[in-house]
Amino acid sequence: MSETCQMIRKWLPVACVAAGVVAVGGVALGLAEKSKHIEVDAAQVPQLTEEQADQLASMVLANKCAACHGSNPTYSTLLNIGSLGLMARHVAGAQRSFTLEPDESVRPALTNVLKIDYTLSARRMPPISYTMAHWGSALTEGDVALLRRVFATDQAQTAITPIEPVAEPTDAVAAAKIQLGHLLFNDPRLSTNNRVACASCHTLTKGGTDNLPKSEGVPGADGKPQLGGVNAPTVFNAEKRIRQFWDGRAADLKEQAGGPPLNPVEMGYEHPEDWAKIAAKLQQDPELVALFGYVYPQGGITGDTITDAIAAYEKTLVTPDSAFDRYLKGDAEALTPQQKAGYEAFRSHGCITCHSGSTMGGASFEYINTFADLREAAAPASYEESAYGLFDFTKKEQHRDLFRVPTLRNVALTKPYFHTGSVQSLEEAVRIMFKTQCDRSVSTETVQAVTAFLEAQTGKLNGKPLNELTAQDVAPQHKPLPTSAGE
Ligand code: HEC
Ligand code: HEC
Ligand code: HEC
Repeated sequence: MSETCQMIRKWLPVACVAAGVVAVGGVALGLAEKSKHIEVDAAQVPQLTEEQADQLASMVLANKCAACHGSNPTYSTLLNIGSLGLMARHVAGAQRSFTLEPDESVRPALTNVLKIDYTLSARRMPPISYTMAHWGSALTEGDVALLRRVFATDQAQTAITPIEPVAEPTDAVAAAKIQLGHLLFNDPRLSTNNRVACASCHTLTKGGTDNLPKSEGVPGADGKPQLGGVNAPTVFNAEKRIRQFWDGRAADLKEQAGGPPLNPVEMGYEHPEDWAKIAAKLQQDPELVALFGYVYPQGGITGDTITDAIAAYEKTLVTPDSAFDRYLKGDAEALTPQQKAGYEAFRSHGCITCHSGSTMGGASFEYINTFADLREAAAPASYEESAYGLFDFTKKEQHRDLFRVPTLRNVALTKPYFHTGSVQSLEEAVRIMFKTQCDRSVSTETVQAVTAFLEAQTGKLNGKPLNELTAQDVAPQHKPLPTSAGE
């Protein structure tokens, strides 16, 4: 993260508090709005020092945006009666879109930078109904030039970048750890009935998913597989996500890998002590015993070493070299004209504000009902919801319906879509996103172009396109151990 952004973050809260006082004072006095107005001259923006630019930008955001987007919005309660509830609606909508003091665990500042840039380009903010009533609150040319300058560095960092291949393991122990993780990922002995492996629900030949609306875990009392509450996301490129799971309850891949074995619905065990039962089964397997001994000479077979090895393997499940990656690296012919138009629409309609970075998603949590409720748009009336996003993890009411954005890499292979698993067609999923996340009605042609663009996201594993992988390509290898001892 650039210094600029860190600075903005450091003193924005202070500036926001100051703006709050002015705004409340403004209401009390009736005409103090003018005092909030600061002039930024576009011609002078390039001459400002970095510090001056940062400071001025923070004041602009505090004065013109914090009334609705500050973590402590000042605008609603006092003025609401006069505006027939318009302001309360403004603030409620604004708070759900983004807050100026980023909560690091929910949205990194960089995601906010992309969103601000989008509203600057579209000249959407502040809302017209607000600027008409509040003198001097519209963004001037100078403000826009200033904000653009201040955020330029961060923006360059958040653009979509190609997926880069993973480096080869550095030494024999690292290689053996990946080999071990690969075996464990496919090992059904991690489940109570010895039939469900990680790979059962994250099948690499199915885009790293099971292609089912809800995953099938170990059988329940009625003998039928128990179903998970949400659709299984892909394991490809998973390391890049800000946190794991739709509700973000695991910090990283290692912590995540500890979840399924001890999930009564998925792999059937329940208590941390149950790792000993799994270890006892694995202990019967000479190949695994040798690998664990080599990779973890002190550690043995435990929940800790099992999840450590699985996470090491998952970090290799990276899928570079999609048509879009080749395009990003300079091959202008890699996308069809329709796909190029789709990419343009993806940017201009703001999909990129949430589906950003190399994995096009995974970097932030976003509400799924800002403009229209995703569940109503995507799931049948009979759908029984049991997931409320980050709220399920933090139990904070403001986190209700805030879901970790999924990656769009390889998305053509990972149907059905959404945490609900209720949409089979990618084109339909795109249409729904336009409605629920972007509040746009666009032509069928645009929806199809964006869909075609997303079809260009299918990457390669070990040089082979994911849609051509066979079971043999992804099966774990039984390689002899190197002769020298490990760490
Ligand atoms: C009067 C309240 C109000 C003010 C002031 C305001 N906004 Fe907003 N903002 C909203 C509302 C309401 C939404 C969500 C609904 C929408 O987009 O219309 C929103 C959404 C946004 C979003 C999310 C993306 C988007 O376009 O929907 C961004 C980014 C944003 N505002 C930036 C800003 C910036 C930057 C300023 C100051 C220049 C600002 N806003 C001032 C009310 C406000
Ligand atoms: C019974 C099916 C099932 C099994 C078995 C299973 N998973 Fe999952 N996996 C899921 C579902 C469903 C989710 C989403 C759950 C949620 O977000 O609450 C998930 C989420 C994940 C995620 C998070 C992805 C993201 O985008 O946040 C990773 C990584 C993952 N699983 C890896 C594994 C590993 C490793 C194993 C074996 C130790 C495993 N899974 C076993 C169904 C399964
Ligand atoms: C405000 C943030 C935001 C914007 C803007 C946005 N998305 Fe999404 N997108 C999400 C979230 C959050 C989900 C997961 C929703 C769920 O499953 O509950 C999602 C899910 C998806 C999915 C389904 C992926 C899967 O594996 O299930 C697709 C496809 C998608 N978005 C495409 C788009 C396109 C195309 C656009 C622009 C038209 C767009 N998104 C705009 C946040 C956003």
